[in-house]
Amino acid sequence: MSTQANYAAWMLNTKEPFIIKEAPYPKPSVDDLVIQSKAVAITQDDRYYQEGNTMIYKEIPIPIPNILGHDVAGIVCEVGTNVTKFKPGDRVMAHVLHMHTGKPEHGAFQNYVLAHQNQTAIVPDNIELTDSAAVPLALSTVTNSLYELMKLKLPTPEKSPEIHGAVLVWGGATSVGANAIQIAKISGYKVITTASPRNAEYLKTIGADVVIDYNDKNVEQHIIDAIGDLPYAGAWDPIVNDSSLRTEMSVADRVKSVDGVKHIILGLPYPGSPPEGYHIELAYGFPFERPISKYMYHQFITEAMQNGTFKIVPHVKFVGDSLNDLTDAVANQANARCEKYVVKI
Ligand SMILES: NC(=O)c1ccc[n+]([C@@H]2O[C@H](COP(=O)([O-])OP(=O)(O)OC[C@H]3O[C@@H](n4cnc5c(N)ncnc54)[C@H](OP(=O)(O)O)[C@@H]3O)[C@@H](O)[C@H]2O)c1
Repeated sequence: MSTQANYAAWMLNTKEPFIIKEAPYPKPSVDDLVIQSKAVAITQDDRYYQEGNTMIYKEIPIPIPNILGHDVAGIVCEVGTNVTKFKPGDRVMAHVLHMHTGKPEHGAFQNYVLAHQNQTAIVPDNIELTDSAAVPLALSTVTNSLYELMKLKLPTPEKSPEIHGAVLVWGGATSVGANAIQIAKISGYKVITTASPRNAEYLKTIGADVVIDYNDKNVEQHIIDAIGDLPYAGAWDPIVNDSSLRTEMSVADRVKSVDGVKHIILGLPYPGSPPEGYHIELAYGFPFERPISKYMYHQFITEAMQNGTFKIVPHVKFVGDSLNDLTDAVANQANARCEKYVVKI
């Protein structure tokens, strides 16, 4: 058991700068690892919470004071008694559970972070450790949205040679959208996405087959044309606005589905009551208790990164190099455009 001093960026109140002060060195339970952080990524959720919007997912209130942060990359310091896949000294990335448990020891914005083994992966030697902080939350969210809820065929570390159907990703330039594009393509789907025209070429390089401007007045027809005769698996929509929802429901009405269900999977709660007749579900990116999480973190992602099938997307932008930089990094996250903000620790 280590007795290292641990410092954290504490959110003592919303709408105020984080305060850097000591936090307890975390104690791993049986399935946990303690990770010495080398980099953390900034997510929209961190910004929502820092801005005071702590009820965005309604059923997941976060107590204050707290330590925010979903994504960490670093070095394993110690492991719980059930952990056999990781050992001290390993380079890892993890999606930590702070928004699930509400506990400060599960927030990424500190030197020593507690992570669950099922949402932790080895970072292969060919990948910069600090870059890998951009991956885990998006990986967990894609796991839940595309594979648990939409029920796509699982990806393997080698790209599928077959095409199983078509999938729509609304907002392909978001972090969770770009990762969905890439992983859905690996698992054998034609990927149709919406984004600003400036991102179209980049999104095609990571797996999008068709990129449509989300402001195009004919966006629905372009999506229908792109689906063609393929069976349609559904839509993954992290944006959730009038335009995206209206289009996704109209598309669902007009195409044939993979399994009789045309899924509409949302990254944010449906505003109001969802209409009858559509299979609308809210993604919740914490699949760590289920076997699929172990599959994605332990059997898919490391090998796919190592062999180049999976690349880190969208672009990583380093916006700081210490805990002191986190307040500005979170506040400025709204400016991220097809890029993931990462702070080195
Ligand atoms: N439920 C869950 O488990 C879960 C998990 C993670 C995230 N989320 C949610 O998913 C959303 C995305 O988060 P993120 O961190 O991945 O986003 P992000 O990386 O900050 O997204 C930035 C991108 O959003 C795109 N965008 C903005 N308005 C758009 C619109 N009207 N239509 C399509 N794209 C638009 C922009 O694309 P262009 O540059 O192309 O304009 C921009 O590049 C957030 O609302 C977040 O809360 C949910």
